[in-house]
Amino acid sequence: MPAHNLATTAVAWYDANARDLPWRSADATPWGVLVSEVMLQQTPVSRVLPAWLEWMARWPTAADLAADAPGEAIRAWGRLGYPRRALRLHECAVAIVASHGGEVPSDVDQLLALPGIGAYTARAVAAFAYRQRQPVVDTNVRRFVARAVAGAPDAGPATTARDLTAVAELLPEEPELAARASVAFMELGALVCTARNPRCVDCPIATMCEFRLSGAVAPAGPTRRP
Ligand code: ADE
Repeated sequence: MPAHNLATTAVAWYDANARDLPWRSADATPWGVLVSEVMLQQTPVSRVLPAWLEWMARWPTAADLAADAPGEAIRAWGRLGYPRRALRLHECAVAIVASHGGEVPSDVDQLLALPGIGAYTARAVAAFAYRQRQPVVDTNVRRFVARAVAGAPDAGPATTARDLTAVAELLPEEPELAARASVAFMELGALVCTARNPRCVDCPIATMCEFRLSGAVAPAGPTRRP
């Protein structure tokens, strides 16, 4: 199976089925993408959505947040959980103003050097905001690739260099298409190739999925009493 079939099939599915989330829209700014990725790390989309909209209305740029007090960021974080993320985001905004003239950098190493930005977030911003060809590997993507490519029932517990290579190999060469594939893999992992009870009947790549082709059965959810 040519690896890029998986990407182009996933992208076609994404175009027809993905959730319409504001940080994915063409007019989302790199700062908006960065804020979304920090919020989404430990909080589900449904709770991030209203918080992100409020946050972006109040602090549309890194400079706006940097000019406000850190305590305001914590207060606005509300019930998203792990409020230390709000402080790190404020520090990040200050560093973006101090070192990058208020513009979120596009280079992964420069992103990594910002406070609170780890390997996942740096690549996510480079791919989703700057449309670069970067492996963006969260738990959903790892599970999707473990099943589709390696034929395993699930991914291992943490992202490894091998996971990054496995995902990078699936990405088309053309950067814009690669960026679309990255978010498409993420969405497939979140909505279809779920940890429990994956919806293989709705999966666009089911006929190419090594796990499916092996005849194995994906983990079922907890059985409910009638
Ligand atoms: N779209 C882009 N990044 C995302 C994420 N981390 N979670 C859900 N949707 C996203």
